[in-house]
Amino acid sequence: MKLLAKRLSNKFIPLQVMFFFVIIVLALVSSSNVAAYASFGEEGTEAVALLKWKASLDNQSQSLLSSWVGSNNPCNNWVGIGCNNVGRVTSMNFTGCGLRGTLHNFNFSSFPSLLRMDFGNNSLSGTVPPHFSNLSKLIFLDLSLNHLSGTIPFEMCLLSNLNFFDMSLNQISGSIPQQIGMLSSLNDLSLHSNYLTGSIPASIGNLSSLSTRLYLNSNKLSGHIPSNIGNLRKLQVLLLFQNQLTGTIPPELNNLTFLVGFAVSQNELTGHLPRDICSGGLLRLLAANDNHIQGLIPKSLTKNCTNLYRVRLQRNELTGNLSEDFGTYPALNYIDLSYNKFYGQLSEKWGESRGLTSFRISNNNISGGIPPKLAEATHLCVLDLSSNQLVGEIPIKLASLISLFHLSLSDNKLSGKIPLEISKLYELEHLNLAANDLSGPIPKQLGDCTKLLNLNLSKNNLGEGIPFELGNLHSLQSLDLSRNLLTGEIPQKLVALKSLEILNISHNELRGSIQSTLDGMLSLTSVDISYNQLEGPLPNIKAFQEIQFEALRGNKGLCGNTAGLKACSLNKTVGNKGNKAIVWILLPFFVILFIFCAVVYSCVFHSRVRTKETELRGANNQNLFSVWSYDGKLVYNNIIDATNEFNSDHCIGEGGFGVVYKAHLLSGQVLAVKKFEVSQAGELAHLKSFESEIRALTEIRHLNIVKLYGFCSHPRHSFLVYEYLERGSLKKILSNEEEAVDFEWIKRVNVIKGVANGLSYMHHECSPPIIHRDISSKNVLLDGEYVAHISDFGTARFVKPDSYYWTSFAGTFGYAAPELAYMVEVNENCDVYSFGVLTLEVIMGNHPGSLITSLPSYSSPSWSKPIADSILLKDVLDQRLPPPRNQLMVEVVFMVKLALTCLRISPKLRPTMKQVSADLSKEKPPLQNQFYKITVGELFDDINKSTF
Ligand SMILES: *[C@@H]1O[C@H](CO)[C@@H](O)[C@H](O)[C@H]1NC(C)=O
Ligand SMILES: *[C@@H]1O[C@H](CO)[C@@H](O)[C@H](O)[C@H]1NC(C)=O
Ligand SMILES: *[C@@H]1O[C@H](CO)[C@@H](O)[C@H](O)[C@H]1NC(C)=O
Ligand SMILES: *[C@@H]1O[C@H](CO)[C@@H](O)[C@H](O)[C@H]1NC(C)=O
Ligand SMILES: *[C@@H]1O[C@H](CO)[C@@H](O)[C@H](O)[C@H]1NC(C)=O
Repeated sequence: MKLLAKRLSNKFIPLQVMFFFVIIVLALVSSSNVAAYASFGEEGTEAVALLKWKASLDNQSQSLLSSWVGSNNPCNNWVGIGCNNVGRVTSMNFTGCGLRGTLHNFNFSSFPSLLRMDFGNNSLSGTVPPHFSNLSKLIFLDLSLNHLSGTIPFEMCLLSNLNFFDMSLNQISGSIPQQIGMLSSLNDLSLHSNYLTGSIPASIGNLSSLSTRLYLNSNKLSGHIPSNIGNLRKLQVLLLFQNQLTGTIPPELNNLTFLVGFAVSQNELTGHLPRDICSGGLLRLLAANDNHIQGLIPKSLTKNCTNLYRVRLQRNELTGNLSEDFGTYPALNYIDLSYNKFYGQLSEKWGESRGLTSFRISNNNISGGIPPKLAEATHLCVLDLSSNQLVGEIPIKLASLISLFHLSLSDNKLSGKIPLEISKLYELEHLNLAANDLSGPIPKQLGDCTKLLNLNLSKNNLGEGIPFELGNLHSLQSLDLSRNLLTGEIPQKLVALKSLEILNISHNELRGSIQSTLDGMLSLTSVDISYNQLEGPLPNIKAFQEIQFEALRGNKGLCGNTAGLKACSLNKTVGNKGNKAIVWILLPFFVILFIFCAVVYSCVFHSRVRTKETELRGANNQNLFSVWSYDGKLVYNNIIDATNEFNSDHCIGEGGFGVVYKAHLLSGQVLAVKKFEVSQAGELAHLKSFESEIRALTEIRHLNIVKLYGFCSHPRHSFLVYEYLERGSLKKILSNEEEAVDFEWIKRVNVIKGVANGLSYMHHECSPPIIHRDISSKNVLLDGEYVAHISDFGTARFVKPDSYYWTSFAGTFGYAAPELAYMVEVNENCDVYSFGVLTLEVIMGNHPGSLITSLPSYSSPSWSKPIADSILLKDVLDQRLPPPRNQLMVEVVFMVKLALTCLRISPKLRPTMKQVSADLSKEKPPLQNQFYKITVGELFDDINKSTF
């Protein structure tokens, strides 16, 4: 009061006026005192009810609510509690607080004035109490992203003032209550990502206020889509995808003229798309893929549907003349029409969708040529026109699509030569031109597309030799040149294809020896060289040791130990089956030769053999079995038994440098065993020198690092024994649709934090620091609770410690820091880079290859900056999940930003893992921009301004 008077007098307000103010203020103060006094009793019950609930939560939650203490008034700064001016609790906001407990001890009837409940993104579990109905004034209810189970009590439908209701991302089962239509004030309803069953109640059509969202996707709803959803005339977004809905899409949905988003994908729907689906012209998202929808593309989609942004209609039975049935979509970003029955020709108009990044129309019946004007959609990253009836040449203009990383034109009737200009497609990772009528040579310029991972030119009429420039494709994992007319020898330079896993050069006219060329392809797992003119011994690499005769047959003179092949011999004329006489004549000569060789061998190599024998005997004496903290020999035998001597039935994956088996020991213990190919005594000696290092690794104990139990070296089998993690690798989870959907944002965020903590521990708390060198989604394993465990830590280099092989192999392609191309030394900064890639991968759901290369620092800013600026963050997030919300959204944005700092080209500018781990555990500032407007380019600018 004095203060007020002073402030007023300072401003030279006449005395009478001031006196008048004082009276009013006095009056206000006294009246609120009266009110407070009058309601003291109920305030008391509110406080008691809150304290009772607090006491039912776990300890950590209770400490978060430490401001809630007895006898206090909840309106006096109790965290999360908001009150009205008569001192009654009107709001509770605990979004993302990590509260753990149930709602069973929450006394609903104590809060008759409550208007808002923000309980989203916590760890609340148990069932949903029917007593919610006591909150008769409630307007806003957010229970999303918790672990609530049981059914939705029908009593909740009595909340007639409820405007916003979100119970998504829980484990709610049962059906949607029939009474849902009673929520007559509802504007926004979200029940997605639960286990709801039964059909969608028809009464939903009574929610006449529903004008924003209706999200029922990702449940197990069955039956038909009720036609009275058509009554929700103002609805903007209707998501019903990922359910088991059957029947047709009711024509009443034509009335929804305000629709911006419509998604019914992944159901069992039949019939047609609603004719007027875009009659309001506002539609941006249309997703009906993976159904049995028939008929033509609706006319409304052809005309004036200019806001269309994403279209997913793949895998249906849609038909129609493509030339006529689509319009011009200036905003289009993504369209997938593959696996339908469209015919007609590709229109030039697609080129006018300047923002188009992905265009897929494979497996239809499109005829005619590829319009060169398509190349005007310069942002195209994915172009898939495969399995159609396209004719003519591949337009040279396509070479101007410099962002393209996936180009598939296979299984058409394209002819002419492969344009040399293809070398300009510098971003290309997948190129498939197979099964056409292409002729001429394989352009040597293809060797410039050094990012290629898959190259398939099979089943054409390509002639001449294999250009040696293909040896530049260091990242190549799969090369298929089969069924062409290729001649000449396999160029020696292909030995540089160190990442190649699959090679098929069958059905050509290649000749000469393969031994020296293919000998270097150490990653090869599948090879087919059948039906050529090849000869000589097989290369001494794993892929050829396990090869089937099918993959070798039809050649001129291959030899080796494989069944079906003749053994290699010094004299090439052996094996000429038709001429037994010669064999008989030569036999005595061979006998003599053999005896001679045997003598020479025993004389010259005698000492060597002796040494080797002693070594092995010595090895046995010293007991090379060495699984620490176990009886080595016993464990060795147990593991051999448990894996049935490394039978492929027990194989659970292929990690760096070896195959991983699951070993279920008789004791009940489950272990992961990584076996690698180290059999020669010479290399065992090498391993010995790493014994101390392995021993150090077995002593590491960190939640986020796979426990290494020990190492076992034996002349027959050498292997590492690890803790077994049931969910397997991150890569596996992200590549499986079902598992990826279960791998929700909160889990992903925690996985990234876990990996950061594990790496930080290794880099900063181990002495000497341990560098992983091969962080990738293959090497991060998850346990049953989705906790991340880094595997293969520091072990990679044991295998071939001193070889060139290691440096060239450092890291998995796509994760390795760019400086590794120039440097031999590997330091912590490389792990930081790989961590950045991994983080983006977890958030995007797939490897961020093309995103990384669109980052401004990567290439000339002039063209890539606009690309990064045009990429919306929300579009790069894993689309299999609904976008993250509230605090999770803030976390995800922060993580993307942090990942971008880890990807800086200059290793010195990257943060350390210690900084990363600390930053991830800090409280994040709120977003400055609306989430859906944030671009990748903007985040990139952000980090360059800030001083990480
Ligand atoms: C509170 O809700 C329950 C369940 O709907 C109901 O049985 C009870 O009568 C309600 N109590 C009050 C005071 O409204
Ligand atoms: C919708 O509401 C009307 C009246 O408000 C009611 O008669 C009708 O039964 C309700 N429809 C459904 C399907 O619940
Ligand atoms: C498709 O439509 C175009 C343009 O109207 C027409 O020229 C073409 O003949 C049609 N194709 C078929 C297969 O009907
Ligand atoms: C594809 O189109 C061709 C004509 O372009 C036609 O002969 C053929 O029957 C069509 N195939 C299918 C499966 O519709
Ligand atoms: C190699 O290609 C031929 C012809 O394209 C195919 O028949 C064969 O199955 C392929 N081999 C392997 C191992 O995939």
